[in-house]
Amino acid sequence: MAAPLRGALIGCGFFAANHLHAWRDLDDTAIVALCDTDPARLAATGAAFGISALYEDAGKMLATERPDFVDIATTVGSHRALVELAARHRVPAICQKPFAATPQDAEAMVAAMDAAGVPLMVHENFRWQAPILAVREVLRAGRIGTPFWGRVSFRSAYDVFAGQPYLAEGERFIIEDLGIHILDIARCLFGEVARVTARTRRVNPAIRGEDVATMLLDHADGMTAIVDCSYATRLETEPFPETLVEIDGTAGSLRLAQGYRLTVVDAHGAETRSVAPPLLPWAAHPWHGIQHSVLAIQRHWVECLRSGRAPDTSGHDNLRTLALVRASYQSAATGAPQPA
Ligand SMILES: NC(=O)c1ccc[n+]([C@@H]2O[C@H](COP(=O)([O-])OP(=O)(O)OC[C@H]3O[C@@H](n4cnc5c(N)ncnc54)[C@H](O)[C@@H]3O)[C@@H](O)[C@H]2O)c1
Repeated sequence: MAAPLRGALIGCGFFAANHLHAWRDLDDTAIVALCDTDPARLAATGAAFGISALYEDAGKMLATERPDFVDIATTVGSHRALVELAARHRVPAICQKPFAATPQDAEAMVAAMDAAGVPLMVHENFRWQAPILAVREVLRAGRIGTPFWGRVSFRSAYDVFAGQPYLAEGERFIIEDLGIHILDIARCLFGEVARVTARTRRVNPAIRGEDVATMLLDHADGMTAIVDCSYATRLETEPFPETLVEIDGTAGSLRLAQGYRLTVVDAHGAETRSVAPPLLPWAAHPWHGIQHSVLAIQRHWVECLRSGRAPDTSGHDNLRTLALVRASYQSAATGAPQPA
């Protein structure tokens, strides 16, 4: 067996514990160093995961440790500087979503890693959730024929602001933070988008940005899809963080319903089965499906690094998802459809 990959992680905040647990589950990978500008968070995370090489300066960490890859788990404001730092050190990098605040930053980050000749993956984990993988498999097998209509939906009243208070403070909220995942799933299931028409609104008066968004997608191949997101929707049973999917195809249909129930109608009739994500030993409800997808995407990264293959959610790929986010905000602001 090849020697374990030596990784370093930057950003010991709310979500990083999931990355660290998942790295620990991968036999051929070890996180050997941590970095955070907040010394208390750094020390606590080092103690929790038994990692003793701790740095408050990412440049110093990369120069000293010379890791096989760096996992950037900070918020968006620091991403460009940290990805460009990784490029200067020629270290393959994973970067959390949202990848970049502006298209210029995103292009510059991708160009820097290309010029350095090292791989870059955006930690776009939603398409790696077990129920979404099950939907992808039904489509791939051709069971419902050619899709002609779809809906990818995330509606909830879960208090995300408790764990991530910064989400209440930004001028933009739901498309940038959550819609980006749901739009990425739509791209992954239905292909590239030619045009977007979007409507947004803010229902919760305690936050700055929009918490409801509806996007109508005209896909390049003529398919029509709806992506809708809300953090202002109170339902009988809170579905967070389930993404629901409806697809109509020329030979059948599928419905991924709340409770992780997938119904496929094909030439043989209707079949409903559970596609619930497993509960990993370190995971907890209701985040367990997300946590399982973190393990799946990190496993994919290791396979890609070892084989030299580009990750499915490479920096280049994510430019298309970011373009959808940008076009959605432009459409919501102008009222007009926008090229994506
Ligand atoms: N993919 C998902 O399912 C998912 C879920 C939640 C959060 N996220 C994303 O994860 C990212 C992190 O979110 P969070 O809630 O953990 O944020 P957080 O604010 O809790 O943690 C970020 C950490 O990064 C540190 N940091 C910032 N700049 C740094 C720098 N230059 N060098 C070293 N450390 C630095 C901060 O001190 C902080 O400890 C966000 O971009 C968020 O959108 C993704």
